[in-house]
Amino acid sequence: MKYLFANWKMYLNLEESIVLAKKYLNLNLENTKMSVFTSAIAFNEVKNILKDSNINIGAQNIYWVEKGGYTGEISAQMYKDAGANYALVGHSERRHQFKETNEDVRQKLESVLNAGLIPVLCVGETKIEKDLGNTEKIVKEQICSALEGLKIQKELIVAYEPVWSIGTGYNCSPVIAEDMAKKIKNWIKEIGLDIEVIVLYGGSVRSENIKDYLSIAEISGVLVGGASAKFEDWKQIVENSKYN
Ligand code: PGA
Repeated sequence: MKYLFANWKMYLNLEESIVLAKKYLNLNLENTKMSVFTSAIAFNEVKNILKDSNINIGAQNIYWVEKGGYTGEISAQMYKDAGANYALVGHSERRHQFKETNEDVRQKLESVLNAGLIPVLCVGETKIEKDLGNTEKIVKEQICSALEGLKIQKELIVAYEPVWSIGTGYNCSPVIAEDMAKKIKNWIKEIGLDIEVIVLYGGSVRSENIKDYLSIAEISGVLVGGASAKFEDWKQIVENSKYN
């Protein structure tokens, strides 16, 4: 079973999201676990379009308080009530553009778990951190601060997404992605979490390179941004995911 997760980010307005969700219904989902992460404004419509399909839906971002005076925010519980299955937590665009700290990510992760959603914890180093040789230190910190001491019964999904490869067309070498996936699983074991961890790769995944990542045993799938918001690109990714 391969995970193909589609993060539509802020690429599509409501109408465009509806059109794309309807096209997704024609995809060949054999052996595939698919989830769409829509904008909040399209969430409900997209959920209704996908409701009789095997495609799940998730939140791109949540706030950790359940309810209250938090103008502009949407809680994990509200997404759960609205039919979400998953929530992205710690996406690099949240960490870097919106200055979310490891502590914020931890609070978000806890509230996602409390609401009964499956978290997709995103981790990854920036270009500077990579060039300084700090990739492992940074990613380990992100993993440990998010997960240490937590009790997780259900699935845990971690997306390794080097920040410098997101939306840039620069790919992380599959050898490094494999090494990081192994390390991520080990660090999670070391902090005493004895669960199956599903690791995805994200960052400029295209139809041309998807096989490189899916052929790695430690990597269970991909989290795709730009290419998932264009139907022909996504369809080709889905097709190419079948042959590895
Ligand atoms: P990208 O984004 O596929 O556009 O590089 C990946 C992500 O942000 O999850």
